[in-house]
Amino acid sequence: MTSLPQKSSSAPNSPSSATRTLTMALAERSYQIHIGTGVLSTGALDRLLSPHLRHSRVVLVTNETLWPLYGKALVEHLTAAHFTVLPIILPDGESFKDGATLNIIYDTLLEHAVDRKTTMLALGGGVIGDIAGYAAATYQRGIPFVQIPTTLLAQVDSSVGGKTAINHPRGKNMIGAFYQPQLVLADTDTLKTLPKREYRSGLAEIIKYGLILDEPFFTWLETNIDALLNRDACALAYAIYRSCEIKARVVAADERETAKEGGRALLNLGHTFGHAIETALGYGEWLHGEAVACGMLLAVQLSQERGHLTPADVSRTRQLLERTELPISIPFHPKKINAEIMLKHMSRDKKNEAGVIKLILLRSIGEAYVDSTIHAETIETFLKSQMSA
Ligand code: NAD
Ligand code: GLY
Repeated sequence: MTSLPQKSSSAPNSPSSATRTLTMALAERSYQIHIGTGVLSTGALDRLLSPHLRHSRVVLVTNETLWPLYGKALVEHLTAAHFTVLPIILPDGESFKDGATLNIIYDTLLEHAVDRKTTMLALGGGVIGDIAGYAAATYQRGIPFVQIPTTLLAQVDSSVGGKTAINHPRGKNMIGAFYQPQLVLADTDTLKTLPKREYRSGLAEIIKYGLILDEPFFTWLETNIDALLNRDACALAYAIYRSCEIKARVVAADERETAKEGGRALLNLGHTFGHAIETALGYGEWLHGEAVACGMLLAVQLSQERGHLTPADVSRTRQLLERTELPISIPFHPKKINAEIMLKHMSRDKKNEAGVIKLILLRSIGEAYVDSTIHAETIETFLKSQMSA
């Protein structure tokens, strides 16, 4: 386990906030993840991105919010560097991560006769990364793809590891593919324009890494959460790097989530509950990280009921999520959410096998495991108890 800096609002012991590089080790599909300030500056793009572009033509997938903020400048830079860029500007929002929006991408690629050597750049948060990634995975059976994540959540989670997907009305991320990018460019300067609610949503996934695999990191987060909420550059650079380091290690060991014991599935702590909340409420009502935060506390409470965690562990988790101002109770919406509806959505989770719901629970803070032994009725009773609490 890496030794971690333990405290301070300015995180003086943290590694510097300059750009750092990690390798996602996947043999011939390995790639680099560059994290830091100035990654999208002209010099850095020439050095980090241009060598990966095999063709003078490039496709940029982004959304209406990101286009004026970072998209136009990226196109100007690439044009000055003699690339021809085809921008595809999608509507913004989780509710557009669907088949209709995916078709806009396919239609545009076909209309402009984009060929297989053309690289697709995905500039945006997890929604853009997931849908563009799926388009890249499937257009002409796969074209090169680069992730340029601009949300905290995308920089610590969705841009790394090659999960791509769209939602289906009956389930979150139900149509998708494993398809690795060739490169990840995470410019932490872009986080300066990220709205507060979106920023906090990303912190949920950072807290997840501490809970599942790294107790010292969880403790570091407890000490440094105020610095992170203030977007302190050093604390942020450290938290993003550590999160990507953990994710890259887990994915390298179990890319397609097939390990019998734990593996990549552990990254789904809180997601079975969280995805059920997102699907039940309607995509976009709660942010992904918000649903995951609520789901993580449910998983932690269930872990305590199963005799693993102490009340102190539960209250540490609750306090950290509360300090981050993330929701920790199942939303009250009698028409859309009750225990039965939650269970129906949970029973469609991608991790399930032979109708058995698999949950990620904790043995202790920093040690997660997969539990396939809990009966649906027990989960329903647990959910009812949480809703009436
Ligand atoms: P998002 O992509 O919807 O982005 C959040 C909002 O912030 C959007 O309105 C976006 O336009 C805006 N935005 C993005 N960057 C900005 C910036 N720098 N400045 C100002 N505004 C900015 O949401 P998200 O939280 O990044 O991603 C959530 C999605 O990621 C979900 O669909 C989830 O399923 C998916 N996800 C995928 C994985 C994976 O491994 N593939 C992992 C976690 C989550
Ligand atoms: N976000 C979970 C995974 O990448 O496996």
